[in-house]
Amino acid sequence: MATQLDIETDFTRLPEMPEDVFTAPLKKPAHVGEDWLEPKQTDYGAEDDAIWNDLFARQMEVLPGRAASSFMAGLQKLNLNRGGVPEFGKLSEDLSALTGWSVVPVPMLIPDHVFFWHLANRRFPAGNFIRTRETFDYIQEPDVFHDVFGHVPMLTDPVYADYMQEYGRAGWKAMRYNRLKALGALYWYTVEFGLIQEAGGIKAYGAGILSGPTEIVFATEAKSPNRIMLNVDRVMRTDYVISDLQPTYFVIQSFEDLYHQTVERNFDRLYPSLSPSFTYANSAVIDVDDVLHRGTQEYLLRGGRGSGAKPV
Ligand SMILES: [Fe+2]
Repeated sequence: MATQLDIETDFTRLPEMPEDVFTAPLKKPAHVGEDWLEPKQTDYGAEDDAIWNDLFARQMEVLPGRAASSFMAGLQKLNLNRGGVPEFGKLSEDLSALTGWSVVPVPMLIPDHVFFWHLANRRFPAGNFIRTRETFDYIQEPDVFHDVFGHVPMLTDPVYADYMQEYGRAGWKAMRYNRLKALGALYWYTVEFGLIQEAGGIKAYGAGILSGPTEIVFATEAKSPNRIMLNVDRVMRTDYVISDLQPTYFVIQSFEDLYHQTVERNFDRLYPSLSPSFTYANSAVIDVDDVLHRGTQEYLLRGGRGSGAKPV
């Protein structure tokens, strides 16, 4: 019988992660402490602000009518269109008044247990740099536009804000069970690439979709991808694509549904039943799925990104 592991539940301080817990090897820059926070936000110049403004304008051409209403409301509430890269102090003040979250600058991707710790304390770590004109369309490492424009508006929704905190609180447990991949898939299919059913149709709330120009139309309207109602157990067994459009999107009924599915699942029982690798391919449709749209997978079958295939 699987025994419950002794897992840190005091989220006020960072835990010592045992040697046998896997985490990505990242080299900490000398100027940041154990919390990986930058001492101050970058002073952005006029060209940086112009890049932010151009990225913002490009998204505004495709998001209305396709982005979740909570996201569009969040942009307004935080006044993110005031021009230029937002100043984190003011942004945190406004966000904190709404849901108690703040936005903190980090130099790069940070270790998993530190990331979870910040989320558990309602701090959202955001990249302390912005892309250049050369990398305007696609960057590998999340910059301030992806992190702030893509993620932060959703944190104005009180239920989503609670979900993100619970996600952070779930992180150390996943690490101790060595099932970080499974919890990572849940993040991927909700926080980064999630869709939601609204009265006006299926909309996007995932930051990976909302911060770029192509995937918003593909995710909500194209024939290629599957759209399947979210089931936490199923999603945590499903592989995903990092550098191309997703073959499958998972759809939630509401943020309340997402929150309850997650906090009410006993992960101490789930993790021991998961295999270390994913069970389902990212394009699979399985018999328990509640399928809203079975994708043609035409884009994937034609070779996806780099092949010249149209995202239809
Ligand atoms: Fe992200």
